[in-house]
Amino acid sequence: MSLDILNVTKIFGPARGGILSRDEGFRALDDVNLHVPKGSSFGLVGESGSGKTTLTRCILRLENLTRGRVLYEGTDIHGLTPRDLRRLRARLQIVFQDPYASLNPRMTIHDIVAEPLLIHRDLFRLSARQRSERVLELLEQVGLRSEHLFRYPHEFSGGQRQRIGIARALASRPDFLILDEPTSALDVSVQADVLNLLHRLQQELGLTYFFISHDLGVIRYICDEVAVIYRGKLVEQGPVAEIFDRPRSDYTRMLLAAMPDPDPDKSPFRQSPTV
Ligand SMILES: Nc1ncnc2c1ncn2[C@@H]1O[C@H](COP(=O)(O)OP(=O)(O)OP(=O)(O)O)[C@@H](O)[C@H]1O
Ligand SMILES: [Mg+2]
Repeated sequence: MSLDILNVTKIFGPARGGILSRDEGFRALDDVNLHVPKGSSFGLVGESGSGKTTLTRCILRLENLTRGRVLYEGTDIHGLTPRDLRRLRARLQIVFQDPYASLNPRMTIHDIVAEPLLIHRDLFRLSARQRSERVLELLEQVGLRSEHLFRYPHEFSGGQRQRIGIARALASRPDFLILDEPTSALDVSVQADVLNLLHRLQQELGLTYFFISHDLGVIRYICDEVAVIYRGKLVEQGPVAEIFDRPRSDYTRMLLAAMPDPDPDKSPFRQSPTV
């Protein structure tokens, strides 16, 4: 489903001084405009602290906007009633960077993946048995098995935990996934497997991705469009091939120059086994 970010500005603070202070606070996002077309895989790239996570939090209404609007299929997310916001969150899910911090250590994998089905039980009227069947189906979709069902997060590797995070995100049958650095906490070899999985799921389920990374190699592998953010401002956006071949901004050129090997055929993601 399409997402439009219109003139979004987010200012944190000011820390003290209030209205008498000249300090307006910290401008984490400055007049950001983006259109994420339905079915696309849209990348957002920028260095640490550039405002990527702040933007996802603004999209999901985990932060209020200072200015601007966020439209999902034309509906203003920040104008929804709490009930409609909850319904929308079933369709618009997020996979977090850190699979260690984002899974509750005291819950079994079954309960972690089933939780969204309980949160949205008005949308998914399932018996306990049907819910467990759905959890198993989700685990299989991400390459895990029934023997994993009643284990706890600490019994899994980083890559497996991220698969659990993905299964959980898919539970409510979303059509849009925000992926905030989903592979950057993982070992490089595991990264490739998880990226291949995400690529396959997008094809199979017809998902739209908003994919955040500071790694241009990852963006090139998974995305068809990309926007570059620097200190809260978008510096350029367009089709991946165009931005990689003819970057317009000095900042993008610098990012590209810092890439280990700009040849996509030599990317490790091309050579990894499919999952
Ligand atoms: N709640 C907050 N209050 C004040 N400043 C904040 C808050 N949240 C984020 N910031 C600041 O906003 C800026 C952008 O942070 P953000 O987390 O969006 O960056 P990022 O691009 O996701 O970085 P990374 O790649 O490290 O995840 C940072 O300077 C951060 O310190
Ligand atoms: Mg971040």
